[in-house]
Amino acid sequence: MAQAGRFEQLWSAIVDIGRDPTTGGYRRFAWTEPDLKMREWFADECASRGLDLIEDRMGNQWAWWGDPDIDASGGIVTGSHLDSVPDGGAFDGPLGVVSALAAIDILRASGIEPHRAIGVVNFVDEEGARFGVSCIGSRVITGALSPERALALRDTDDVTMAEAMRAAGRQPEQLGADPEAVGRIGSFIELHIEQGRGLIDLGRAVAIGNRIWAHGRWRIEIPGEANHAGTTRLSDRQDAVIGCARAVLAARAAAEVHGSLATVGKISIQPGGVNAIARSATAWLDARAASEPALRATVAQIAEQVAASDAVLTEESRTPQTALDNDLVARLAGLLDDAPVMSTGAGHDAGILANAGVPAAMIFVRNPTGVSHSPAEWAEPDDCRAGVAALATVLTDLAGSEQ
Ligand code: GLV
Ligand code: MN
Ligand code: MN
Repeated sequence: MAQAGRFEQLWSAIVDIGRDPTTGGYRRFAWTEPDLKMREWFADECASRGLDLIEDRMGNQWAWWGDPDIDASGGIVTGSHLDSVPDGGAFDGPLGVVSALAAIDILRASGIEPHRAIGVVNFVDEEGARFGVSCIGSRVITGALSPERALALRDTDDVTMAEAMRAAGRQPEQLGADPEAVGRIGSFIELHIEQGRGLIDLGRAVAIGNRIWAHGRWRIEIPGEANHAGTTRLSDRQDAVIGCARAVLAARAAAEVHGSLATVGKISIQPGGVNAIARSATAWLDARAASEPALRATVAQIAEQVAASDAVLTEESRTPQTALDNDLVARLAGLLDDAPVMSTGAGHDAGILANAGVPAAMIFVRNPTGVSHSPAEWAEPDDCRAGVAALATVLTDLAGSEQ
């Protein structure tokens, strides 16, 4: 098959997995059936290419072309994740995995024999949509998240991650930092859909990612007092939903003051009766900034404002401002026709690996809608092919080759 058709063929095999027919969005949450189907698809594609598939202690899938253990500095790894946010787009994650397989096909069709092993990874639960903490797969293997904490995380049905993994046939007691898996990554190149408008403005199909903003998630617990909606005087009420509304507005105001981003995208109201004043509410805050001080100031301002409603803000996860590898970024820029270099406010496994000392860089592919974490996320086929070609060029160079 012509290499141009490989991407489309790979893509068409997964477009319906975990897609909600009503919204057109994807619900591929970690260890649920759609996620397991995606993992199975990945394993099958790797097997059909004769790649050696390994699952690490966390369940991340690694497929190797060549043996990464024969070189003390490991192999060249690419890939991304296959899970999604609620009603996510098709490209966030899968574009990186599909492009990795398509790039390997190009190398093989060109008769390239890499000197270093090339690996393709599917990281578990990058979005944290089910258990609340993002990039669980890379955080656990690098030791950034303890196995005890990871296994005890609960989804909205009160299922722990340990239970979910066991139900999916995994052994949660094995979970933990995996220096062997991390040590095999000589360099990591994550190709990803761009999640903003940078490439639209530049009129380019592909960019290189060099930096990830500081970001994190916080839980805000807002107390109230349950009572009757039809009989309780306004002056007698302690309504948790009012406190929740104040928290949402405080987040927006703090972001405006500090030039950052702050979002409340999920709330839970207890007990949730139309005719009952809420006993308590929980709001989850996502905050991001181009600098650590701006992020700290944003969250501190929100914490101070919500304290006026007796609400308490607790950190659930945080990723520092992350510089990807300068040398790798410069090398990619040289290889990719001086593609623009840009930072991002989106979090990625590449950032977690970079913070663990792995040389990492990213390739972004233009998203003509500029919309992400939504079914409106998109990439034109020509741009997808440009991304695959860029990745193939980078892998050929980094892995060294004989033809
Ligand atoms: C991942 O997409 C994130 O930044 O939340
Ligand atoms: Mn995402
Ligand atoms: Mn992603």
